[in-house]
Amino acid sequence: MTLHPDKWTAKDFGEDFIWGVAMAAAQNEGAANSYGKGPSIWDNFSRRRGKIRDGARPAVACDFYHRYKDDLLLAKALGFTAFRFSISWPRILPEGIGTVNKEGIAFYHRVIDECLHLGLTPYVTLYHWDLPAALEKEGGWSSHLMGKWFNRYVTLCAEEYGAKVKDWIVLNEPFGFTSLGYMLGRHAPGRMAMSSFLSAVHHAALAQADGGRILRKLVPGAHIGTTFSCSEVIPYTQSPEDLQAAKRLDILMNRLFIEPTLGKGYPREDFRLLERLELHNKAWKYTDRMAFDFDFIGIQNYFPTVVRHNSLIPVIQASEVKARTRKVPHTAMGWEINPGSFQRILSRFWRYGGVKKILVTESGAAFRDSLVNGVVDDYQRIEYYRAYLHALLMARAEGVNIKGFFAWTLMDNFEWAEGFRARFGLIHVDFATQLRTIKGSGYWFRDLLNAP
Ligand code: BGC
Repeated sequence: MTLHPDKWTAKDFGEDFIWGVAMAAAQNEGAANSYGKGPSIWDNFSRRRGKIRDGARPAVACDFYHRYKDDLLLAKALGFTAFRFSISWPRILPEGIGTVNKEGIAFYHRVIDECLHLGLTPYVTLYHWDLPAALEKEGGWSSHLMGKWFNRYVTLCAEEYGAKVKDWIVLNEPFGFTSLGYMLGRHAPGRMAMSSFLSAVHHAALAQADGGRILRKLVPGAHIGTTFSCSEVIPYTQSPEDLQAAKRLDILMNRLFIEPTLGKGYPREDFRLLERLELHNKAWKYTDRMAFDFDFIGIQNYFPTVVRHNSLIPVIQASEVKARTRKVPHTAMGWEINPGSFQRILSRFWRYGGVKKILVTESGAAFRDSLVNGVVDDYQRIEYYRAYLHALLMARAEGVNIKGFFAWTLMDNFEWAEGFRARFGLIHVDFATQLRTIKGSGYWFRDLLNAP
């Protein structure tokens, strides 16, 4: 099938294709210090000077906590039939373990009920980066107690919501939160130690599989997945040094979590860091426990990574050659726009034996949107989605079993270390007034999804 890049419709994706839109608790909800919620690592991290652009904080964000009904109505109006959101662990367990916050529990019942009422299938992510601060004090993801804490939290969610929610996502991008939060210090909790990172990786790999098992046991008919960030890694030149640098980064960015999930254990290659990972955690003992038979995997690919050897970078000895330097099309985040690379990464993850189904659980782009006379003409985002959805169709034509696409994100929100500056939404948010304005790309989805 060679569909023209512009001549396809939603029908080409098939009747059973899931069209969703995604968001996350810490990025959207606000009400960070009320209704019994405990502080998360992001609430604390954002108070540290210089960590978040413009000193932004997630305390109010999009105020989804109070406006969820209107926002869900907007998601519905844009034609989506699935809504991915995350549960804030510290909202329902303010101390991470122990006392349950009934108001928090009730809030997610209201959101789920409203989704069901509107005909939006709820896709619930259990962990989208907002660890209870109380648990970080005890070591967070680098603590071996994480297994116990996470299991308790997942059990609570499954027992509370399992009768209504069948579609579950255990972790959002384990490589993202372990590397940015525990090795590079750019995200909460802001740690920068290789040993913390290696422990966090291992506890995340275990939590992911354990979480899947708990859901399987407690939620009859559950459809269970987990998400992976991924990025095609391309050597800058064909020199042996650059090729090796690309190989190391590929292991970290693409293989580190999916391989244990599929029962293969950690990738065993000539890379000192992986030997340390194995030794540090006695990981060879856990190959079976890190595996789980997920019903789907969520792919989240925002850009390819071009890399070259750099002996100044400890251990990894590689650095990225940015899209701006290479003068290729990129988003406001500086991320290369490359739909062909998206297609290749989808095929690659499918080619791992053992993946049953792929959902693209996030895809989107930030641009410098401006609201002029009530209109946001984000033609670049429309072009982006048009090209990426076409690439997805091409991957399907190659035989990749992709059954859904979730746009990232419904509305501009708290973009982690970028604060409110980076806008990824299909809906513009004026953060001073909370006014929502559907962008051109939002209308584009509406027309795509509601076409006769
Ligand atoms: C995360 C989102 C984030 C998006 C854009 C993904 O890695 O899951 O929370 O907003 O990327 O940076």
